[in-house]
Amino acid sequence: MEPHRGPPREGPPLSRARHDAAGEAPAVSVEHATKTWPNGTQALAAVDLTVRRGEFLTLLGPSGCGKSTLLHLIAGLIEPSSGSLAWWGKGFEATGEPGRRLAMVFQAPTLMPWARVDANVRLPLSLAHGDTADADRAVADALSLVGLADCARHWPRELSGGMQMRASIARALVTHPDLLLMDEPFGALDEFTRQRLDAELVSLWMARALTIVFVTHSIHEAVFLSTRVAVMGPRPGRLIDEIAIDEPHPRDESFRLSTRFAATAQRLSAAIARACGGEPAAHDAPVRASAS
Ligand SMILES: Nc1ncnc2c1ncn2[C@@H]1O[C@H](COP(=O)(O)OP(=O)(O)OP(=O)(O)O)[C@@H](O)[C@H]1O
Ligand SMILES: [Mg+2]
Repeated sequence: MEPHRGPPREGPPLSRARHDAAGEAPAVSVEHATKTWPNGTQALAAVDLTVRRGEFLTLLGPSGCGKSTLLHLIAGLIEPSSGSLAWWGKGFEATGEPGRRLAMVFQAPTLMPWARVDANVRLPLSLAHGDTADADRAVADALSLVGLADCARHWPRELSGGMQMRASIARALVTHPDLLLMDEPFGALDEFTRQRLDAELVSLWMARALTIVFVTHSIHEAVFLSTRVAVMGPRPGRLIDEIAIDEPHPRDESFRLSTRFAATAQRLSAAIARACGGEPAAHDAPVRASAS
């Protein structure tokens, strides 16, 4: 998605962010943020969350627990009903448009079918600054980063699902965001493609020194990708646990097969089961089932 760059919205005052030990403000700080939709659904009870610069933070939880709502708050796409957010230490109005520094990738690739791949990737540049002389280079770099250099003149319909998602990621990266927000980007893909794209995403995260907030239902995906996992529970949506995954990146197949991987997955599974009031879920698929 193109970065959000709408005008500051009316809403509760935005507080000052806490700073880390080095005196640097975190990428995002969410303080006591709640969200109740107009129909009365309380999507989020008070959430406190700090997204540190450079981390790969995953929001993990069953369907309906408010993951997308929280991600959209972090994107500045919606306002909290109460509480506050700050981006790099500043409120929305004071940031000089946080949207310029963040980009979002949705579950569906959302490519414009009538535009070729390179035109799709160029869209945020066109919207933001007009087409500058550097745009061609930026589009080519972004396509090359995601392995689609040879597909620039293709139509979206000529790409596989995984390739379309790569194009969507290229479109998000073309503005060189500091913060990449991803809402189940690989959820619709087969397991093989998902694992490949997970590994590619970690490479991008390392190469571009990105901060990533990633949403998934998949415990295995969360363990493989993240430096930290924030576990969410439903009714109302809330954060219930936080687990750091102290395993060096890039991670490989041997990590997936390790007892450390299994133990971390089990711990996450147990946290979600507690939040849902049930038994620990077997990894992945039953997590969604436990919420329904
Ligand atoms: N625009 C909206 N209006 C009213 N209710 C909404 C709206 N968007 C979400 N909700 C409700 O808010 C709650 C949280 O929804 P959200 O989409 O954040 O969950 P989620 O964890 O992302 O779920 P999933 O894993 O299925 O995508 C749900 O009860 C949902 O029905
Ligand atoms: Mg969602």
